[in-house]
Formats: sequence, C-alpha cells, structure tokens
Amino acid sequence: MSEENSKNTVEPDENEQEEVLGKAYDARLMKRLIRYLKPYTKWVVLAIALTVGVALLSTVRPYLTKIAIDDYIVNKDAQGLKNIILVLLGTLILQGLLQYTMTYLTQWIGQKTIFDLRMELFRHIQKFSMKFFDKNPVGRLVTRLTNDIEVLNEMFSSGIVMVFADVFIIGGILFFMFSLSWQLTLIALSVVFPLIYATVIFRKKVRIAFRDVRFYLAKMNSFLQEHISGILVVKIFNKEKRTLNDFKKINYDHTKANKKSVFYYSVFFPVVELIGALSGALIIWYGGGEAVQGALTIGILISFIQYSEMFFRPIRDLSEKYNIMQTAMASSERIFRLLDRQPVINDPLKPAELGDCRGNIEFRNVWFAYVKEDYVLRDISFKINQGEKVAFVGATGAGKSSIMNLLCRFYDTQKGEIAIDGINIKDLKQNELRRNIGLVVQDIFLFSDSIANNISLNNNDISPEKIREAASIIGINNFIDKLPLGYGQNVKERGVTLSQGERQLITFARALAYDPKILILDEATSSVDTHSEILIQKAIDKLMDGRTSIIIAHRLSTIQKCDKIIVMHKGEIRETGTHQQLLEYGGIYSKLYQLQYKESFA
Ligand SMILES: Nc1ncnc2c1ncn2[C@@H]1O[C@H](COP(=O)(O)OP(=O)(O)OP(=O)(O)O)[C@@H](O)[C@H]1O
Ligand SMILES: [Mg+2]
Repeated sequence: MSEENSKNTVEPDENEQEEVLGKAYDARLMKRLIRYLKPYTKWVVLAIALTVGVALLSTVRPYLTKIAIDDYIVNKDAQGLKNIILVLLGTLILQGLLQYTMTYLTQWIGQKTIFDLRMELFRHIQKFSMKFFDKNPVGRLVTRLTNDIEVLNEMFSSGIVMVFADVFIIGGILFFMFSLSWQLTLIALSVVFPLIYATVIFRKKVRIAFRDVRFYLAKMNSFLQEHISGILVVKIFNKEKRTLNDFKKINYDHTKANKKSVFYYSVFFPVVELIGALSGALIIWYGGGEAVQGALTIGILISFIQYSEMFFRPIRDLSEKYNIMQTAMASSERIFRLLDRQPVINDPLKPAELGDCRGNIEFRNVWFAYVKEDYVLRDISFKINQGEKVAFVGATGAGKSSIMNLLCRFYDTQKGEIAIDGINIKDLKQNELRRNIGLVVQDIFLFSDSIANNISLNNNDISPEKIREAASIIGINNFIDKLPLGYGQNVKERGVTLSQGERQLITFARALAYDPKILILDEATSSVDTHSEILIQKAIDKLMDGRTSIIIAHRLSTIQKCDKIIVMHKGEIRETGTHQQLLEYGGIYSKLYQLQYKESFA
C-alpha cells in the first residue's frame, strides 16, 4: 500500500474478508464456475465459434489490403481491385453480423448463468439457521447477492469470451505478420517488452486502487443504509451536522481512491498509444528503408502498420480483463464459501410424521447456550398439555424468548429434549414443525406489500374470505375497510403508514389465518396503549381459543386467567402455578405482582 494511503484513518483492512485479491485465474474456482455454463453448452460453443470467426475476419483485412496494393494497384488492375474491395466490404459486413450475434449471445448466457447462481445462493441463504444470521450482518449477505454476483456477470459476459477473442486476434495478427515478413515482425514487436512492463505496473497499481474504491463504496453503502433507516434518531438528537461530517469523510476517501485509479488509467492509455505509435514509427523506418531498396512491397508495409495498430488494442483490453478476472475470482471465492457452508440445522433423513398435531409440548432437562458454554437456559423442564394456556414471566434477559426460539427450532439445544405430541422435534422436518406453530413477536415485521398479502404471506391456500375472516375475528376488519385501498393497501416499507398497534393486529390476523395448533405470543401487547390493549386482549382471547397457547408478558394483568404461569429467573424456572397459587406462595411472582399493582394504583 502506498504511503499516502496509509495516512487514512479508516484503512482498507486486508482481514475484512470482503476484499482479498488473489489470483486472476484459479483453476479450482474456474472449474466450478464453468459448471454453471453447462445448461448452455450449445450456446457457449456457438459463442466461441463466433469469436474465432470475428478474430479471423478482423485479422484478415490488413492482409487483403496488402493484396489490393501489391497485386492490383501496383499492376494497375482495375477489375481485380474492384473485386478485392468487394471482398473487403463483404468481410466487414460479415464481421459486423458475427460480432452482433456474439455480443448478444455472450450477454444472454451471462444473464442466464447469473440468474441461476443468484437463485441458488438465495435458496441456500434461506436455509441457514438463526445462528448464522446472528453472526452475519444483513449488509454483507446483500452484497453477496448483488455486488459479488454482478462482478461474475461482468466476467461471464465481457470477460471470458472476450479473452478468447483477444487471444485469437493476437494469434491471428502474429500469424499474418510472421508469414509476411519475420524480420519486420521482430522489429515491430521490439516494443512489446516495455509494453508488458508498463502493463504489469499499471495492473498492480490499479488493482490496489480498485480494491480501495470498493472498500469505501461498501462503507458508504452501509453508512447510508444505517443513517437513513435511523433518520429518526439522527433528527431527534440533532445529529444531522455530525452525520453529514462523518459522511463527508467517507465520501472524500471514496473520491480519493477513485481519483487514484483515474490517474493510473489516464497515464496508462497514452503510454500504450505512445508505444503503439513507436512501433508504427519503427515499421516505417526499417520497413520503409527495405521498401526503398525493393526488398519489401508497399502493400506489406501498409498492412504491417495496420497490424501493429490492431495489435495493441487487445493487449490493452487484456490488461483490463485481468482486473475483471481478478475481482471475479475473489467474488466467486466468497460466493462459493457461502454456498459450501451447510445450514447448521439439518432435517432428519427419516423424518417422523406429526400428522394431526394436538399441541402437547414437553421440555425435558433442556440446556442451551447461544455462545459456547455460556448457558442462558439451565435444566428447563415443563409440560404444556393440549389446549392449555400458559404464561412465562420473568425479568429482561431471563430466557423467555430463548425458550420459544428452541421450540421453533431456530436453534438447537445443547442438552435435553423438546417434544411435541411425544415426538422429539429433532425427528421432525423443520417445515412440519413450524407449520403447526404460530409465533407473534414484539418486533413486528411487515413486508412492503398489501395488507392482504401481509396476512396470507401470499399463501394461495388462504383465500380472500379467510383473510377477511381472520381480520374480523381480530377486530381490524372495519379499520382495513376504511383505508383508501382496503385490503389492497400497501403497508409501505417497514410499515410506517400504520400505527404500532395496527401493525401488531395485522400480525395477529396473520397468525390466525395460518390456524396453528400452537400459538406463541412474545411480548405481543407491550407496545400498545391501555385502550388498544383491551381490544388486543379480546383479540388474543379469540386467537388462543382451542389452541395450545404460550404468552410471554411483562404486564401481569394480561395473564391472570392463564391455566399456568411459569416464572423464570436467570435461565431457570423458579416457580410454577396459577395466579392464585403463586400469590399465596409469596415468591418472585407475588413480589412482581405487588410492585405492578401498586404502580397502577399509585
Ligand atoms: N441471538 C443471541 N445471541 C447471543 N445471545 C443472545 C441472543 N439472544 C439472546 N441472547 C442472550 O440470552 C439471554 C436470554 O435472552 P432472551 O431473549 O431469552 O430473554 P427474555 O427473557 O426474552 O428477555 P426480554 O424480556 O427482554 O425479552 C440474554 O442474556 C441475551 O443477552
Ligand atoms: Mg424476549
């Protein structure tokens, strides 16, 4: 890294794993990438054939020029000249057509391949367990699916095939040059060494510059994403100016990195031009002398000048392709690494059938830690029978939500067993398990889609009537009907046009529409006012009707009617009983209750 660069406060970090540049060609990665071309083998072969055609046609032209001059112009053969010009015109038109087909075809193959790869990647990401998502920021995964894939697209559509084209063109030019005059060829090519030298230096410099550009771009993206999502916090704490200053810094670094790459390009291109011109001058100097002495024809001289001009373009292209290939290798490495990671929670090979789920739940001596050995649940055992309504209470961080995470098998237990209707949930397919569980969490999530689709989640089995029915039972049917577009109303991104309570009710309707046997409400009522709470309480009562239900609540007023209350403390179950029993027992629950009771009547 250059000195200037190391002065930056935020340096591109080699360990960031986002941007480690390696080889431009890695046989192992390439082999794997080529596999994605397999469904399009026919078309790839055609594209390569077209490429060879284009390369041949473009390199044959100077040779035809030589024939036109030496055989017809010098011999004053007008008819012959006319013919050869027609042939020249013909090759030009043919080349144009082939080039069009080739470009179209390669881009099309590129798009198809990228489509497949992107599908595979997203399908794979969806399979990961929650543990994976705890560790991988959303931004990074989105980058995999967009930027990294886009880089591969560039490689497939402009890189690989064009590299073929360039190599063929260079080969063709060398073939014709050597067959015309090997001495002149060597003279013309004497500039190749300084050219290679210039290219190597350029490549090195520009590679670092590009890496920096991408680093700052990623930084800028995540900064913008965070500060636009969190605009409310920025505004209320009057942080606009501060935020702008932070942004200015990143923006400045990004511009600076870009300026560097622009500088290298603006030096490199004229240098290549210059070397090319030098080659032309050498040809005229040496070849001209030879021609004067009659050792070389004018036609050869002119075709050589044309060839030397043609020669440098593919070389310049190749140095650019090198960069594309290099970033493509790095991107594919990251994509494949992600694809090779196996979802931590696998379905059993021979899954048990839950059949008609009744909704009996049992935890047997369950121990669980998110991070190794750091247990957040210790020796948890309880039983919930079909149709029972059970509440979990306890301080923040006691482990209530963690129990629900285990029941839905978002994570696996370290020790102990969880059974539904007597079947260990590890013996069930995850789909089968979750189909029977409805989970409503405090952290409401609505998709930017219509209300109807947010309730049914685009499940075709859930008819519009069923959606409406679910909404009426929850008591938001009237509210939705009053919206300008009714059930077709879009809830916008993050559901900003609806109030928190309204959004919560929609998630209730969603749970109801799916008609689960087991219902879990995790702090579902904590974000609404007392009036709405009464509404929601009614909705919840309807929701729980005929189901095994688990409620997690801080407000004890909402859970007094439950069949059983389980009190958690620091990852352990401390008390179990009905509201009345626990009050009489005089433990944690009764203390909590008295505290809240006093508060509300103070
Ligand atoms: N994804 C996670 N990775 C690591 N630790 C976690 C994760 N989720 C929760 N924890 C930790 O596990 C412990 C139990 O958290 P849990 O969410 O179960 O508490 P809770 O009883 O639901 O609390 P609250 O009433 O605030 O919702 C806490 O110490 C928390 O920091
Ligand atoms: Mg919780």
